[in-house]
Amino acid sequence: MRFDDQVVFITGAAHGIGAATARRLHQEGARVAIADHDRDAAERTAADLAERALAVTCDVHDRDSVDAAIAATLETFGRLDQLVAVAGGSAPMPDFAEQSDELWNDLIDLNLTGVMRCIRAALPALQCSDRPAVVMVSSVNGLAAFGEESYGAAKAGLSNLAKNLAVRYGPRRIRFNVVAPGTIRTRVWDHQPGSLERLKRFYPLGRVGEPEDIAAAVAFLGSADASWITGITLPVEGGAMAGPLHFSGRAFNDPDQ
Ligand SMILES: NC(=O)c1ccc[n+]([C@@H]2O[C@H](COP(=O)([O-])OP(=O)(O)OC[C@H]3O[C@@H](n4cnc5c(N)ncnc54)[C@H](O)[C@@H]3O)[C@@H](O)[C@H]2O)c1
Repeated sequence: MRFDDQVVFITGAAHGIGAATARRLHQEGARVAIADHDRDAAERTAADLAERALAVTCDVHDRDSVDAAIAATLETFGRLDQLVAVAGGSAPMPDFAEQSDELWNDLIDLNLTGVMRCIRAALPALQCSDRPAVVMVSSVNGLAAFGEESYGAAKAGLSNLAKNLAVRYGPRRIRFNVVAPGTIRTRVWDHQPGSLERLKRFYPLGRVGEPEDIAAAVAFLGSADASWITGITLPVEGGAMAGPLHFSGRAFNDPDQ
């Protein structure tokens, strides 16, 4: 019960990695705010947890929406100890040379600026906690070149954001860390049938990740077990980065590979 008495605000918690993280932290005693722009799904995730869970509407693209979601969490639970920023994602991309400003900015906004909005809104409450922590969910795309330049650049930005904020807020005991997942079995792969089966051979541990693999790492970094860890990016990727030759562009881009 590492999160007994703690209140955790989790963005993107209606589905996938965020929902698994909410379940894990809740199981360890946390009161959880399921913050997502998909209100209906957020309600379902919160209902599954039955107690100590609140669904809040939160669109990370919108400062007012983020601020209101944090305020609603404080109103219900009276405090905030941790922020887990999971909301994010990619989109089909044209060739880099054909990239529009709009598409580029949209992915940077979702994956980087949106996280900044959540941290900014949460900071005043976090500074009142005795065990404050922020965990951001990035991607291996932020650690190396897998294509999807705007998504990768945004995710890479999270690592630097964590370092800067770890230094700036270290004296106030707020910790900032990042988890960088490899391929995780969520709905984002549904439109590419067979892709997870194809990708698993690039993972030395012989499988792609499950949302619970990421939830476990987020729980560790947010817990007192990680109380002397701040400013890091933890890859959680089944050993994929240990064998970078497996990740040729051909292997990833060619559906026959
Ligand atoms: N699935 C993977 O293979 C994988 C790999 C590496 C990193 N990631 C990252 O993990 C995170 C979660 O991905 P997932 O696979 O669970 O995807 P998912 O689509 O299942 O979950 C994403 C969640 O974010 C929410 N969301 C999207 N836009 C939002 C917005 N503007 N405001 C608030 N909520 C919003 C969605 O409603 C959803 O609940 C993302 O940041 C993604 O980039 C995923």
